[in-house]
Amino acid sequence: MRVGVLHGPNLRTLGRREPGIYGTATLADINRALETLAGELRLEVEAFQSNHEGEILDWLEEVGGRADGFLVNPGALTHTSVSLRDGLLATGRPFVEVHLSNPDAREAFRHHSFLSDVATGVVYGFGPESYLLGLRGLAARLT
Ligand code: DQA
Repeated sequence: MRVGVLHGPNLRTLGRREPGIYGTATLADINRALETLAGELRLEVEAFQSNHEGEILDWLEEVGGRADGFLVNPGALTHTSVSLRDGLLATGRPFVEVHLSNPDAREAFRHHSFLSDVATGVVYGFGPESYLLGLRGLAARLT
């Protein structure tokens, strides 16, 4: 089984981006932890980050054919992007939405997600652990 891991806009700067909200783990730290867990779960992960919505849609088209599911932290696209919703649905694969922070405990504009109602599951508020919990949930769904 292969899982595509998608990190949306501004997640490349994790570690120094608003550490009071997002913590000090870097994106490389998170990807390493996911690789380790994937090994335990006998999954392969393929991670991608972009600040550009079009690039993300291109990646979904490309990887959609070879991934069995997706783990997605869409960043701010969560709250804005019908294109990302459509792109994920077009893959025909299950996906889990994750967030480091708890968007419901933040500004009102973060309370709506264009993805949650079509996600297999949603995990948020646990920092990097959200990704690991999400991968476990997705693995259980896939295997
Ligand atoms: C985020 C939450 C979003 O509201 C925000 O725009 C992000 C990060 C999170 O992981 O907590 O970029 O997805």
